[in-house]
Amino acid sequence: MMIKTARLTLRPWRKEDLEPFGKLNADPRVMEYFPAVKSREESDQTAFKMQEEIDRHGWGFWAASLKQTDQFIGFIGIGHVNFTEHFTPAVEIGWRLAFEYWGKGYATEGAKASLKYGFEMLNLQEIVSFTPVQNSRSRRVMEKIGMHHHSKDDFDHPKLPENHPLRRHVLYRLQKEEWKNSHNKDQRNFHFAPVTPDQRTLIHGWFGQKHIKEWLHGEGLQNTLNGLEKSFQESSETTYWIGYDSDTPFAFLITSPEGIDAATLDLFICDLNYVGKGLAVSMIKEFLTTHFSHVKRVLIDPESTNQRAIHVYQKVGFKIVGEFIAKWHPVLHYQMELNVQDLLNNTYGL
Ligand SMILES: CC(C)(COP(=O)(O)OP(=O)(O)OC[C@H]1O[C@@H](n2cnc3c(N)ncnc32)[C@H](O)[C@@H]1OP(=O)(O)O)[C@@H](O)C(=O)NCCC(=O)NCCS
Repeated sequence: MMIKTARLTLRPWRKEDLEPFGKLNADPRVMEYFPAVKSREESDQTAFKMQEEIDRHGWGFWAASLKQTDQFIGFIGIGHVNFTEHFTPAVEIGWRLAFEYWGKGYATEGAKASLKYGFEMLNLQEIVSFTPVQNSRSRRVMEKIGMHHHSKDDFDHPKLPENHPLRRHVLYRLQKEEWKNSHNKDQRNFHFAPVTPDQRTLIHGWFGQKHIKEWLHGEGLQNTLNGLEKSFQESSETTYWIGYDSDTPFAFLITSPEGIDAATLDLFICDLNYVGKGLAVSMIKEFLTTHFSHVKRVLIDPESTNQRAIHVYQKVGFKIVGEFIAKWHPVLHYQMELNVQDLLNNTYGL
């Protein structure tokens, strides 16, 4: 059993995870709100126990790795609370990530997928989460995934001695009904994949439409079509993408690397059923956070008269940083630039 999110895989533990897990558990920054850092043996034991639970139930605290590189980053998942308190028996949600993967929204992303699994697949009626009162970073994740805290639920962790500074814990709860009402409202299921040669006809049809021709014509159009053909024949730095809503293709995007840490973007919402529906900002954010979180900057250059596109890009977070007369269409164009870290921070509310 595996869970895939936009950027993560939640999966059973592997032998190779033990070393990076050991490092994470020995890092005082990661373990600030735990009684002590763990030795390698203790860390291994923790991983074995988590895998035992997964073997027993089919779910648990999964090893989390980055989809693109398979890099292990920590654990995220749900498990039975292993002590007795006023709210047990209960299933808790939890996470622990290596320090270098903090601040990128991974905990929130994996936790949301774990909630979905718990409520939809396991039909749990409630999921809880707890942490020492002081751990505001983890509390933020709990809040971002829709959990609520009532101070009457606060408790002293029974496994910590009296007077231990971390003994007082907050409890966050989320009921299935609340979750059903709040999540996925109005959310589309966007994904993106490179164009395949059999999609030529679709694209040529799309480019014949008035709302596309208005902004893609003459030399610009010819360059795009030539580049697309070339990408079918030989490997190309430029990637031509189709954006899908579930299985429906509706958008065309073009990206190219620019220097070592940037990428250029061009995009067209082609299917008229998707134009003017208020979907552009979320589609662009989804595309960039899932495929371009490794670059620092994304650049786009709309015509200065394309006010609709400029408005949308500004809502995504692009800023106008310059202007120029384009070679392929000699009218004024704006150079717009997005700081990708800002986008990740805003998207994941960090
Ligand atoms: C640009 C494009 C991606 C935007 O997608 P969209 O589906 O039209 O956008 P949305 O419906 O999500 O949002 C449009 C926003 O622009 C606003 N808008 C519409 N026309 C506008 C105009 N003439 N001037 C300023 N803002 C305008 C809308 O009010 C809305 O803003 P709001 O959400 O703040 O109310 C799409 O229209 C498109 O592909 N156009 C053709 C190709 C193109 O221009 N590509 C860009 C090349 S750089």
